[in-house]
Amino acid sequence: MSQTASPAGTADTVTLTDNRTGKTITMPVLHGSTGPDVIDIRKLYGETGFFTYDPGFTSTGSCESQITFIDGDQGILLHRGYPIEELAEHSDFMEVCYLLLHGELPNPKEKHDFTYTITRHTMVHEQLSNFFRGFRRDAHPMAIMCGVVGALSAFYHDSTDIEDPKQRMIASHRLIAKMPTIAAMAYKYSVGQPFIYPRNDLGYAENFLHMTFAVPCEEYKVNPIIAKAMDRIFILHADHEQNASTSTVRLAGSSGANPFACIAAGIASLWGPAHGGANEAVLKMLTEIGHKDRIPEFIKRAKDKNDSFRLMGFGHRVYKNYDPRAKVMQKTCQEVLSQLDIRDEPLLEIAVELERIALQDEYFVEKKLYPNVDFYSGIILKAIGFPTSMFTALFALARTAGWISQWKEMIEDPVQKIGRPRQLYTGATKRSYVPLDRRG
Ligand code: ACO
Repeated sequence: MSQTASPAGTADTVTLTDNRTGKTITMPVLHGSTGPDVIDIRKLYGETGFFTYDPGFTSTGSCESQITFIDGDQGILLHRGYPIEELAEHSDFMEVCYLLLHGELPNPKEKHDFTYTITRHTMVHEQLSNFFRGFRRDAHPMAIMCGVVGALSAFYHDSTDIEDPKQRMIASHRLIAKMPTIAAMAYKYSVGQPFIYPRNDLGYAENFLHMTFAVPCEEYKVNPIIAKAMDRIFILHADHEQNASTSTVRLAGSSGANPFACIAAGIASLWGPAHGGANEAVLKMLTEIGHKDRIPEFIKRAKDKNDSFRLMGFGHRVYKNYDPRAKVMQKTCQEVLSQLDIRDEPLLEIAVELERIALQDEYFVEKKLYPNVDFYSGIILKAIGFPTSMFTALFALARTAGWISQWKEMIEDPVQKIGRPRQLYTGATKRSYVPLDRRG
């Protein structure tokens, strides 16, 4: 198969020629508002009998979207056109949720109404606490989150009709609102403390900290600096285009599954160490390194083809330049540690030195492996007091805003159909069944 693109100035098409038969197919080239053009291959199979082969979807656009744009070579991340750095600096998580869901930043009334609605959906059905009690105390919070979020569809029947736009919006509000409550309950359950109800006088991040760290026997005052850092961490994790978990949510939703089930699928996908589980893995790795002197040993292992060890928090499928979120995260990390008066955090010292050495190492430079968002987030979360097992749960909490916005966009896209990739089959061809007594 050979491929030619139309020269500049002619119709935007690409023509593929099957060199074996000389047959050609001309396919349209589609242009986004920015970013690479895409070849529309929808008619390829019907007209040629060919599928495309693209494990990991490295060259495949699965949908049209107006939510998030990433330029991995330039290190750019935009939500609805706004750079992540500006949102992290000037906005807050409620505003970013609204932006992702509705496409525009809210005006003051819209922001007030949205925040009011989210705040009034933070409680969970009381029966749901019984659900938690079925888990072992040492269950991973992500295991609990998968189960409990999936179970929401058994509790909120009045928002599972995906054909009704009003129900879609209520489900979106419920998910954004209840996720901090569920994550905090997962934590409380693991430490054997009573669940703490949400409070309507607190902001989103404050409320989450309150539900996580307050106990009924004394007053808990949320540190505003920590609440601000928490809110920023939520903004930095809110959405990230068609990553593994978001694609999982879209694929699950493409069959018409209800939004609670789809978000549970996203949580399951996020859990893996190559994705959201990396923040937990970074902290484990830094702890294992233990001292700056041992960094070269771990760098050597990361470069060794025969060793499965990778530098956690380094590398990204899309960013081949610095992850813009990692820069903000590094700054937030320093702010939090100084506010908490943590001067000598050995893990931060190791992280800074590891980053310095890796960024000078030929292997990492050549492969364009830069720190990603997870590299610093674990250190901040540890300083705030979260156990490592909660790190990915916090990521899931924040990413719910992106997942549900992407799910809603997909349902409302007239082009959307059930996701059904094809395959390159290399297994046995047709053969007859052999009875058990004739198998050697
Ligand atoms: N340490 C050492 N080598 C690495 C690393 C790393 N962290 N990441 C990639 N490489 C190497 C690979 O071995 C491969 O080498 P090769 O070309 O010689 O075979 C090359 O760089 C390309 O790596 P791939 O795995 O093919 O790249 P891919 O885009 O599939 O993977 C991923 C990206 C999964 C993020 C990878 O970089 C990784 O495993 N990083 C560590 C885990 C991590 O931090 N994940 C968080 C991602 S961000 C997020 O989800 C929020």
